[in-house]
Amino acid sequence: MLAIGSDHGGYELKEHIKKHLEEKGVEFKDYGTYSEASVDYPDCARPVCEAVQNGDAEAGILVCGTGIGISMAANKFKGIRAALISDVFSAKMSKEHNNANIVCLGGRVTGRELAFMMIDEWMNTKFAGGRHAERIAKIHAIEG
Ligand code: RB5
Repeated sequence: MLAIGSDHGGYELKEHIKKHLEEKGVEFKDYGTYSEASVDYPDCARPVCEAVQNGDAEAGILVCGTGIGISMAANKFKGIRAALISDVFSAKMSKEHNNANIVCLGGRVTGRELAFMMIDEWMNTKFAGGRHAERIAKIHAIEG
């Protein structure tokens, strides 16, 4: 199951992503926000990150206006590896090399078709492990 969330700047793209996931038969839970009323992106990142941390979700998708603020917030949660993606190659590598358990997108910068391609690439790519797992262990060692 994927956890999905956004602030108001990412709300519209989140709704399109939900339709795309439904069409693909991908199970997800929407943790909000549920309208275009202004909210604070760290508050929107929290429930998605906690769902990934506690195993309720295998991974997550977060959207804000640029993807920047919500990715910064998400990466403060222990065990979260949130990748801000804006091209298909990086979306693939975020899983293959970085095993990103959350991808972040910018609703005001990324078109919906590109968003769908990036999400599909991230979902369909496998983590390569090996030396990349050792590097990720070093990231989490920094967290303590
Ligand atoms: C909200 O106006 C906007 O700042 C937010 O969606 C995001 O782009 C922050 O990084």
